Amino acid sequence: MIIKSLSCRNFRNIEKTEIYPDGKMNVICGDNAQGKTNIIEAIWLFTGAKSFRTNKDSELLKFGEKKGEIEINYISGGIENTAKIEITDKKTAFFNGKKIGGAVSLAGKFKAFIFSPDDLSIVKAGPSVRRKFLNTAIGQLYPSYISLLKDYNRAVLQRNHIIKDFKYDGSLSVMLDVFEKELEEKGEKIVHTRKRFIKVLEEFLPEIYKGISSGKEKLEIKYNCSFEGEKLSELLKKRRSENMYTGTTDVGPHRDDLEFFINGSDVRSFGSQGQMRSVALSLKLAEGEVINKISGEYPVCLLDDVMSELDPARQNYILNHISERQSFLTCCDPTNTENLKQGKIFTVKKGDVI
Ligand SMILES: Nc1ncnc2c1ncn2[C@@H]1O[C@H](COP(=O)(O)OP(=O)(O)O)[C@@H](O)[C@H]1O
Ligand SMILES: [Mg+2]
Repeated sequence: MIIKSLSCRNFRNIEKTEIYPDGKMNVICGDNAQGKTNIIEAIWLFTGAKSFRTNKDSELLKFGEKKGEIEINYISGGIENTAKIEITDKKTAFFNGKKIGGAVSLAGKFKAFIFSPDDLSIVKAGPSVRRKFLNTAIGQLYPSYISLLKDYNRAVLQRNHIIKDFKYDGSLSVMLDVFEKELEEKGEKIVHTRKRFIKVLEEFLPEIYKGISSGKEKLEIKYNCSFEGEKLSELLKKRRSENMYTGTTDVGPHRDDLEFFINGSDVRSFGSQGQMRSVALSLKLAEGEVINKISGEYPVCLLDDVMSELDPARQNYILNHISERQSFLTCCDPTNTENLKQGKIFTVKKGDVI
């Protein structure tokens, strides 16, 4: 996956810009609040995933403007493609000049992974962040997974809605049967896909973690399924009498989690800050390997503001690990780029890129 050109118009603080990136390393330099992350965000949106910063499309539009657009020209599988996203109060995607629907329709056509300081939360924060990591990565590989998730989530909302009234109206039992069957059918597919993804992740993760932590520690990952070994519909039926008081559905893939263990102990509870950072970084690099293994092509690597937070050993590992792929790396301090042997340096100032 190689971006040949990127252009933005009325995107965030960028009025108009066009850049021609290097096929390998691209460093985006500039002071705070100049527009570095905005460029990373623009590239990320072509994965079809939501922005990592906002759920509101209108925030992507330059203040006071009604319409904006971002466009990339990129090579995938040896073929040159153009992807464009038009931004109004929603995002509309065009692929090779043809309108294809919402931005989510670009999923699978362009692939990238991003690592930013917030990603420490993959290890540290609650389970929803880890599910999001899985869902975003899998959605790029299997776009049908995105609609599967959407249908599943809709069925959860429908069950939640009905279950609240179940305490007054026992006849709703028939409707609950229907939704719980649907949850089972879709839920099992979701878990199956996630477990398959994790299996491939496991081929790379321990080795990458070893490299990053330059240690002898062993990292393991485990998918924690909230209905392991049980039929989801049967379990949901048993949970009805509790769920009707809370109006929730408390088992299913939307409640599952990922767990990380270093030498057998839970990283979330016992890991040091450094270990958590290494786990998060390893996960992202491993995600890149999985995407390459399954799709036959490395995703574009986006690293936002992470270099300054890493010690030199980790900086070196990451730079060596990604040196053969196209990467975009933001930083404030131009001296960070002194060792750059190949690639391009872009300087961003008030939304202008030079
Ligand atoms: N919708 C928008 N319209 C205009 N400016 C915006 C918009 N969203 C963010 N900005 C501006 O973009 C700048 C932040 O850009 P960002 O890429 O996060 O900076 P950094 O270079 O620190 O990564 C801020 O000055 C902010 O006010
Ligand atoms: Mg930034």
